[in-house]
Amino acid sequence: MQTQQSILVTGGAGFIGSNCVDYFLSKDTQRYYVNLDAFTYAGSEQNIAFAKKNYRYTLVKGNILDRNLLDALFEKFRFQGVIHFAAETHVDNSINGPGEFARTNVLGTQTLLDAARNYWMTGPFQKKDEFSNARFLNVSTDEVYGSLAINVPSFTEKSPFAPNNPYSASKAGADLLVRSYNKTYGFNAVTVHCSNNFGARQHSEKFIPSIIHRALAGENILIYGNGQNIRDWIYVEDHCRAIDIAFRKGETGESYNIAGKNERTNLELAMAVLQILDKLKPRMDGKTYREQILFVADRPGHDFRYSMDIAKINSELGWQPQTDFHNALLATVTALLLGA
Ligand SMILES: NC(=O)c1ccc[n+]([C@@H]2O[C@H](COP(=O)([O-])OP(=O)(O)OC[C@H]3O[C@@H](n4cnc5c(N)ncnc54)[C@H](O)[C@@H]3O)[C@@H](O)[C@H]2O)c1
Repeated sequence: MQTQQSILVTGGAGFIGSNCVDYFLSKDTQRYYVNLDAFTYAGSEQNIAFAKKNYRYTLVKGNILDRNLLDALFEKFRFQGVIHFAAETHVDNSINGPGEFARTNVLGTQTLLDAARNYWMTGPFQKKDEFSNARFLNVSTDEVYGSLAINVPSFTEKSPFAPNNPYSASKAGADLLVRSYNKTYGFNAVTVHCSNNFGARQHSEKFIPSIIHRALAGENILIYGNGQNIRDWIYVEDHCRAIDIAFRKGETGESYNIAGKNERTNLELAMAVLQILDKLKPRMDGKTYREQILFVADRPGHDFRYSMDIAKINSELGWQPQTDFHNALLATVTALLLGA
């Protein structure tokens, strides 16, 4: 009889984690998923409503910093893999309070790595055999590479880390710990670096939801600096597909860049969102929401451009983004308007 395979997902009540859990549950019909989430302000019950109906889903409310809890969960569920999303994720918050970012993103990741290594790699050889293919997938960001000028080549996996804000520095710290566990202990780990995600369930503090929220509230739509900073946008479902492939087929010790190849200035993106909003929910006075745009003082350490080369994941794992940007943006704005 085949034993049941359980995967630990951390941060599965957040934006990307919850979208990915739904994707995993619908894509494979075998594995069980245990979502460990601390339900910080960024976690939401609404995000996990769909997953909760699935018998292969278990929710555990708890913190990745709680080593006793982690050990108990490993013992109980005998995880064959970890997909690690849990993090403090908002750059502005990291500028106001870096401590929480160091604790959750660096120390939290290290605590989780230790618990997984302890469970998978110590003890009698029969146990080590059973978990010899167990893998840790670390979900990271393009921001660890720092900022790029316009018209220069995109970052590759070989580009050095050069984080410019406490959020990206804490993610880079976590990535380096993951790397060190692989090099030092032979721990089976893969890291993925993804560009800016968009889709349903994103917290209202993030760029696209905040544009919609402020537009509808009749408030100014705030854009840092002159709006010319460039981000590369990927639909969350394309990211989930890439994570799934990297988890199953990635090479241990390697990292893979994931991007939508949709570079837009912040102003361009805001205009595109507001154009959709003008059609779906026109202003009462017949004017365009674009009139509400207000440029404000730039964010300190604001990276100018993020751009990543995705040739490696494309050639080695066969992944590329599949979603049409405009359709996905329309679907996102529609979903966010409906409160998703
Ligand atoms: N959003 C993006 O565009 C983007 C891009 C690339 C990479 N990432 C990475 O993807 C991951 C998920 O990002 P997101 O946008 O979904 O984040 P999010 O802020 O929406 O969700 C984070 C989740 O982690 C949980 N969490 C926070 N601290 C925790 C702790 N100590 N223990 C357990 N759970 C905790 C929160 O409750 C929340 O559910 C993060 O690691 C982030 O760095 C995000």
